[in-house]
Amino acid sequence: MEFSTKAVAPGHGAADCCVVGVFTEKKLSAPAAALDKLSGSRISRVIARGDIDGRPGTTLLLHDVANLACARVLLVGLGDKNSFSEKAFRRAIAASVEALCRTGTANAAIHLTELATGRRDAEWRLMQAARIAGETVYRFSRMKSTPPSPAPLLRSITFSVSKPELKQAAQGLARGRALASGINFARDLGNLPGNVCTPAFLAEEARKLAREHRLKLKVLERADMEKLGMNTLLSVAAGSSQPPKLIVLEYMAGPKSQKPVVLVGKGVTFDTGGISLKPAAEMDEMKFDMSGAGSVLGTLKALAEMKLQVNVVGLVPATENMPGGRATKPGDIVTSMSGQTVEILNTDAEGRLILCDTLTYAERYQPAAVIDIATLTGACVIALGHVLSGLFANDDALAQEVLKAGDISGDRAWHLPLHEEYQEQLHSNFADFANIGGRPAGAVTAACFLSRFTKKYKWAHLDVAGTAWKSGKEKGSTGRPVPMLTEFLLRRAAKRR
Ligand code: BES
Ligand code: MN
Ligand code: ZN
Repeated sequence: MEFSTKAVAPGHGAADCCVVGVFTEKKLSAPAAALDKLSGSRISRVIARGDIDGRPGTTLLLHDVANLACARVLLVGLGDKNSFSEKAFRRAIAASVEALCRTGTANAAIHLTELATGRRDAEWRLMQAARIAGETVYRFSRMKSTPPSPAPLLRSITFSVSKPELKQAAQGLARGRALASGINFARDLGNLPGNVCTPAFLAEEARKLAREHRLKLKVLERADMEKLGMNTLLSVAAGSSQPPKLIVLEYMAGPKSQKPVVLVGKGVTFDTGGISLKPAAEMDEMKFDMSGAGSVLGTLKALAEMKLQVNVVGLVPATENMPGGRATKPGDIVTSMSGQTVEILNTDAEGRLILCDTLTYAERYQPAAVIDIATLTGACVIALGHVLSGLFANDDALAQEVLKAGDISGDRAWHLPLHEEYQEQLHSNFADFANIGGRPAGAVTAACFLSRFTKKYKWAHLDVAGTAWKSGKEKGSTGRPVPMLTEFLLRRAAKRR
């Protein structure tokens, strides 16, 4: 799909469909009013009949409207005029592109990006528009023997802006395109089944990314992990015949003196629970348990395509969690790379075990900040559902910065507690502490576990168990939190906190 931005008046130009917005109470947006005028009030007459009422997400396709250069007009609902929100803006772009894909339109002109949306400038609007359009046209069909028909005919979208905004808009468009590419890459990795997307496959994808964009790549093998004493990571891999990998990707496009932000992504390519085996229902969804890893690789892809001048290191511990003759057993005690001993009371709490050694490994970068991303706990899904990711941090300013990035990108998180009192739940009679803290506040005790390995730097933890994929009829990876992480790094690059 081709995206471009232009200062073009609605109803002119070469598009074969013109997309304009309608607010509730039959109020036309400025581009819709312009079309209405050109066409001798045809559009307001259609609206008066009541076929579209302006509710967000609704659309109505018109053909052969008089006096217009475009063969079609797509009306799209924008909601209430006085509170036209960022959410309604995104929703309108998504609804437009979805509707366009169901028509014979090849080249569309979308006249929504010139509308003012609260606090946001043209760069934001175009970045969001290109991103949402890129996400909306995404299809995952590579595991189907024949592609689902019919393929949409839509080839290009032009987003219109006012002339003075063109330069900002072009920058936003380029960034949005790169962001969509990173998001959709993360979605591909998530959607691929566990028999394809193995730890070795993730390492190979990282290698392709490194080659394409000149990132530095290192893949630590089992023997390297043994030398480093990464025994909690190795304890998870013990039951699997797939060798574990620790992927180290360095994107150092920023100033030499600038300490990197380290992103750590949970890469459990399939989580059976291990000896603490999960029940059968919906176990297939545990192929998404590498979504944190996917989001790290996707974010690096987006940054590299933007050529953003920042220093970022991506660390991805990748392994399966399987039962087997050599698998770790409940009650086993292992010594982590940090030297702390862990009693593994439940082998299904494996995410924290692969993250903790990786978080210790992160120390060598003297990071400006470390953010880990993990589909860590079912408890987080119970707490926040599928709307917000869980955020924990050992530094309040960092937490605020992450929340802000979530707010701007619309990929939001909620700050959850990490108070000392919860740490007691990790008590072990035999080792320094246990890997589980019981049923109460399960997302918090998982974060507490990680916090014991992140004392040497500023750290934030994102539990994306509820947000990284959708279940049910729409089952599939969402690519979250790539938008939030990318926005975080964009703001760091611009030194905006
Ligand atoms: N990958 C799961 C978390 C998960 C569960 C994500 C359901 C999305 C949906 C994780 O490894 C896990 O199994 N966590 C356990 C921890 C428990 C044993 C303390 C959980 O949440 O049940
Ligand atoms: Mn598990
Ligand atoms: Zn897991």
